[in-house]
Amino acid sequence: MSSSTITGNVDLTENDNVTNLPLMSGSVGPAVVDVRKLYAQTGHFTYDPGFTSTASCESAITYIDGDQGVLMHRGYKIEDLAEKSDFMEVCYLLLKGELPNTAEKNKFTHDITYHTMLHEQLIQFFKGFRRDAHPMAIMVGVVGALSAFYHDSTDIHDPKQRMIASYRLIAKMPTIAAMAYKYSVGQPFIYPSNDLSYAENFLHMTFSVPAENYKLSPTISRAMDRIFILHADHEQNASTSTVRLAGSSGANPFACIAAGIACLWGPAHGGANEAVLNMLHEIGSVDRVQEFIAKAKDKDDPFRLMGFGHRVYKNYDPRAKVMQKACHEVLDELGIKDEPMLKLAMELEKIALEDPYFKEKKLFPNVDFYSGIILQALGFPTSMFTVLFALARTVGWVAQWNEMMEDPSQKIGRPRQLYTGYDHRDYVDLDKR
Ligand code: ACO
Repeated sequence: MSSSTITGNVDLTENDNVTNLPLMSGSVGPAVVDVRKLYAQTGHFTYDPGFTSTASCESAITYIDGDQGVLMHRGYKIEDLAEKSDFMEVCYLLLKGELPNTAEKNKFTHDITYHTMLHEQLIQFFKGFRRDAHPMAIMVGVVGALSAFYHDSTDIHDPKQRMIASYRLIAKMPTIAAMAYKYSVGQPFIYPSNDLSYAENFLHMTFSVPAENYKLSPTISRAMDRIFILHADHEQNASTSTVRLAGSSGANPFACIAAGIACLWGPAHGGANEAVLNMLHEIGSVDRVQEFIAKAKDKDDPFRLMGFGHRVYKNYDPRAKVMQKACHEVLDELGIKDEPMLKLAMELEKIALEDPYFKEKKLFPNVDFYSGIILQALGFPTSMFTVLFALARTVGWVAQWNEMMEDPSQKIGRPRQLYTGYDHRDYVDLDKR
């Protein structure tokens, strides 16, 4: 991939002073104004809380056109990857930049499969958590603790160690996620099985018990794999930016991914799929949809329609379309007819898409809108939804972290601020306050 080029310039005028700022273009998408020298040239910072107009890095991994509803990984459309590819291939693509040939795919799948076990002492770590701990709390702790177990892959300046750490994270995340689930329901941990695929292994570790193996179905395993593909990467979202920011200081990859998991947990980000299902339960029936639409539109009511709206997509999230289709397939396979939550979700979507408020603000269903319904049908409790998102997003996080580590222009991330506090004040002694 070629890197960016300077394709023009922009003049910034302040009184009689004109500052010329370079305009940089990538391969596709909007050009960016390079403000790196702005402070040195003008004494000003830019102000962009929430980074709505700020590109924080160059990246060749994922491209989103939010107006058109397009998502591509390394140039391949998400719809094609979800339909024709599988998660191992998408992991390879994100990490290495190209689709693998058969030999490369087999080797990669083998290497990931043979890193799925956890250090046995790490398994003891789970037992320190409270019985009713949220599995995301366990994930943040256990993934951070990987740094203490895999010292031989924490030298961030060694590309080989970086790749080993990346493989370990992708491989061990399903094991950790399944164990977090098992712990929360009081069942014994199930170890990975090397004759199963990535998605099958996760389902097996989550739902088998020593007395009885979970019966794997190709439709369900395929749906699980597709859910992983749909969540694999999403360019510079909040958790990925968190991983990059943590990594920019030179922190080890396990600590960086733990930071990403912490960020993902929030309901404005990965926690939304859990919030969607809670919202659907709260709405309860189709005849209350209008009432909740009105609440979502009311400026004085903090309620928002969960699973609707996106910082980047101002069109239908392409992942939501695939997810809706997968949802129907899973419910059919499981013989679930007239699932009330699905009916409610579809009615809510229909009404919202026709409502002037949602149309005007370009609020469309996002990936989380339907994922909760599938995950519930597969047997996952709501507390596991964000865990599954973290599992699948791990490859995106490590791919972006690796890209940052290889970027010669990489610096510690350190935003500036617009200070609004007191100017200098004289210290007042305690007895005079
Ligand atoms: N319901 C009702 N109104 C909404 C919603 C919603 N879901 N989302 C945005 N709006 C309104 C806002 O009130 C705001 O109105 P205003 O301009 O009159 O003030 C306008 O639309 C723009 O919203 P912002 O919050 O400024 O948009 P932002 O880009 O900051 O937020 C976000 C995006 C956080 C996703 C937001 O749409 C939201 O909270 N959605 C619900 C939570 C959700 O589904 N999150 C999952 C995101 S996808 C993911 O992480 C995988």
